[in-house]
Amino acid sequence: MNILFIGDIVGSNGRQALNEYLPKLKAKYRPDITIVNGENAAGGKGLTNKIYNEILQAGADIVTMGNHTWDKKEIFEFINDAPRLIRPANFPEGTPGKGYVIHKAGNQKIAVINAQGRTFLPAIDCPFKKIDDILAEVKKETSLIFLDFHAEATSEKLAMGWYLDGKVSAVVGTHTHVQTADERILPDGTAYITDAGMTGPYDGILGVERDVVIQRFLTSLPARFEVTKGREQCNGVFIKADNQTGRASDIKRISINEDRPFFD
Ligand SMILES: [Fe+2]
Repeated sequence: MNILFIGDIVGSNGRQALNEYLPKLKAKYRPDITIVNGENAAGGKGLTNKIYNEILQAGADIVTMGNHTWDKKEIFEFINDAPRLIRPANFPEGTPGKGYVIHKAGNQKIAVINAQGRTFLPAIDCPFKKIDDILAEVKKETSLIFLDFHAEATSEKLAMGWYLDGKVSAVVGTHTHVQTADERILPDGTAYITDAGMTGPYDGILGVERDVVIQRFLTSLPARFEVTKGREQCNGVFIKADNQTGRASDIKRISINEDRPFFD
C-alpha cells in the first residue's frame, strides 16, 4: 500500500499549499490513502467543519488532530458525525470523537491511529498502553497500521517508534512543525520519522508571525500568536508497506518550498 502523509496544515496559507501540491504529489506517488494532520488548519489552532470538508475536498482520506483539537468550539458539534476525522486516542474515556479508524482503500484495509505524547504537553492517558489496546482490536482486521504520533519530545517519539517496531507499518511524528531528517525503516519493518514537518508559511516561526515570537523571547511578555502570510511550504512523507505483512519497505521525506521546488 502506498501511504501519503501531509504534515500539520497551518492556517489559510497551509490550506492553499495543500490545494496546490496535493494533486501533484498524488500524481507522483499514486497513494492508496492520503492522511493529513489538520489540527492547526483553522487560523493555526483547531478545525472547523468547513475546513475539515475543504481538506477532504483537497484530496485527504483521513484527517488527524492533536493538542489543538478543541480550540474551535464548533468541533463539538461535528466531531461525532465526521467519519474521516480522528483525534488523539489517549484523551480520557468519554471524550467526543474517536482515536482511530479502519479505512478501506480499494480491497485493502488500513488502520489509522492518532495519539498524543505526554512530555511537555497536557497530562492525558498513556499513549503506549492505549495503542496496545487499539492494536489488539485492529489486528483482527488488518496488519496495515499507520500512527500519527503528535508529540513534543523527540525522545518520546523515538520511544514510540521503537516500541511499535514490527507491530505497525508506520510511526510518523507531528506537532513540532520542523521536518526531521531521521526517516528510516526500523529493523522489524516499521517506517519511522520523528517529525514530518508542517504545511504552511515558510518564513514564519513554526507558522507564526516572526516578530511576535521574537518579541516574546526578548521580553517574556504574553503575546498573541498570528499565523503569518507569504511564501508556502509543504512537508510530509511517503511510505510503502506490504499489504499482507504490513511491513514498510520505503519511507521518503517530502519537503517542498522555494528553496527546494517540487519536481515530478
Ligand atoms: Fe500540535
